Amino acid sequence: MPIANTTAVYAGKLAVLYEGHGDRLACQQLAERLAIPLVLASDTHAYPFYLCWRDGSLKLLDTELLKKGGLAVDIEPRNGEQRSWPAPKEGALAQALGRKTRTVVDATTGWGQDSLHIFRMGYELLCIERSPIMLELLSDGFARLACVDWMQRLNLSPPSLLGGDAIALLAALPTPPDCIYLDPMFSPKRKKSALAKKSMRVLRDLLGDDIDKEQLFAAAFAATGKRVVVKSPDYAEPLGGKPSSSFQGKLLRYDVYLKT
Ligand SMILES: C[S@@+](CC[C@H](N)C(=O)[O-])C[C@H]1O[C@@H](n2cnc3c(N)ncnc32)[C@H](O)[C@@H]1O
Repeated sequence: MPIANTTAVYAGKLAVLYEGHGDRLACQQLAERLAIPLVLASDTHAYPFYLCWRDGSLKLLDTELLKKGGLAVDIEPRNGEQRSWPAPKEGALAQALGRKTRTVVDATTGWGQDSLHIFRMGYELLCIERSPIMLELLSDGFARLACVDWMQRLNLSPPSLLGGDAIALLAALPTPPDCIYLDPMFSPKRKKSALAKKSMRVLRDLLGDDIDKEQLFAAAFAATGKRVVVKSPDYAEPLGGKPSSSFQGKLLRYDVYLKT
């Protein structure tokens, strides 16, 4: 997996936590890849976020999750999703992706939840993510996915994962995909939105808003073969101006921009 340039962006913000069991070398290598410190369980007061292997998954912890738990890429189907593969192309997301779409690039993969939904519906998928932290979590999640029964039985490989800024990477795609999917971070309506899921709140606290989303939209529209789909909170203005169509989800919208 290519790791995007790591920098001192996380200085003072994030460390790898080794809890005294499991593979210490893997923790050390992770800390080196991200250029962040490795700390022991006795020393967990200095950082607001930690990466740590717990229960067989790489997890992101904030101070609230330090005692137990943690956030990992969830590879289980969402509630209500059929467990067969490919799952039926139903619901607002599938409608927005379009009936004739075969290839999709998710340019803002984040926790991979939309990506994995798209993958489970049988689309051919490339995932892009620029945060090296999220890339590590995704890489761990996709490696776990590769090992589950149904993936092995059907001889499937997890989606491809590319690290780096999609604004540059989309322009270099060898073949335009049918659809480019965008779900950048929008400013919340209220300062501390109680409605946002913990995983999204932590992502926002760690990475902040995606302030270059207009440029990302322009790059996506230039690079797509047929359409761009933007997932937005229902209170947000459409990212690319008036969309060709919109599909309503729960507290969100999928805006579709067709290339004519
Ligand atoms: C709101 S999250 C996406 C959540 C995701 N749809 C999910 O289901 O988990 C936005 C993510 O997009 C990434 N991102 C934003 N702009 C990007 C860009 N230009 N290139 C690559 N990744 C980007 C951020 O780092 C963040 O992880």
